Amino acid sequence: MPSIFSAAPTPRQDLSRRLRRLARVFPLEPLAQQGTAPSDVVEYYEHCFDAYRRHHSSEGAVHMALNDGGRFDPDGFYGQLRRIEQVWRDAPPQDVLELAFGQGFNLAYLAPRFPGTRFCGLDLTPRHVEHARDLLAGRGIANAELRQGDFHDLPYADASFDHLYCIEALCHATDTRRALAECARVLRPGGRIALLEVDRPASALVRFGHGVYFRRVVPLLGALLSDRAAYAYLPESTAYLPDQASLFAMLAAAGFGRSRKRTFLGGAAQLVTADRGDRDV
Ligand SMILES: C[S@@+](CC[C@H](N)C(=O)[O-])C[C@H]1O[C@@H](n2cnc3c(N)ncnc32)[C@H](O)[C@@H]1O
Repeated sequence: MPSIFSAAPTPRQDLSRRLRRLARVFPLEPLAQQGTAPSDVVEYYEHCFDAYRRHHSSEGAVHMALNDGGRFDPDGFYGQLRRIEQVWRDAPPQDVLELAFGQGFNLAYLAPRFPGTRFCGLDLTPRHVEHARDLLAGRGIANAELRQGDFHDLPYADASFDHLYCIEALCHATDTRRALAECARVLRPGGRIALLEVDRPASALVRFGHGVYFRRVVPLLGALLSDRAAYAYLPESTAYLPDQASLFAMLAAAGFGRSRKRTFLGGAAQLVTADRGDRDV
């Protein structure tokens, strides 16, 4: 007897159907051709500045919240920073660089807690730099110095820092090797790099949820809230960091040793650290 239920579509049919529906709303081809040059990154963050504050974090975090229980709570935006704070508590670093500081959320948290440390921050998006400068000045934070620039070409002298961290931004690199080589150049021997990024979750179920979030929810939400083309850029750019073996090989080639990786949130977030070695630390 024929079933009254139609057979479930195969993943390919399902994808084609969704793409046809999306194509009714906005043209997909120009989006598929869209590049991720630095000018695209700037355009995206300039355009979405207010939307991030309204719909992501009113305090200006532009990274994901680490909520261990799996339920969103804005306190989770401090998860990455608390981990950094804990590591530095006993022996605060002297000179720190934050790559791609976004709206200044991380520096505004860390710099007052380590008043003896000199912080430098670099970001590509002029609006972020302007906003973060005002934020830090408004809070009377004097131990942080900000510059606009590209992390592929750091405007700092060799061996200027003993710690460098970057939260959810190295995935934007058009040349990860070059960005890591620049990081190695500006770190002192024994200095540490810490990369806190999203990751491909290990569990198929979590991976599915993550994929749906980045590929479907984010662009559609963005389409509703703001400019479709600008928001559609995000899932392409969050093509994650290179996989662990390639990233560790790139770190080694750049002059880092002791590469380590820890994951959180069922594998959806990662912390990669490595030490700049002239000695093999
Ligand atoms: C997802 S946001 C993360 C911001 C911040 N790290 C945070 O945790 O809130 C990515 C940031 O990377 C910056 N960015 C992207 N490409 C960059 C590059 N080549 N050089 C410097 N900053 C870059 C963007 O301007 C944006 O502020």
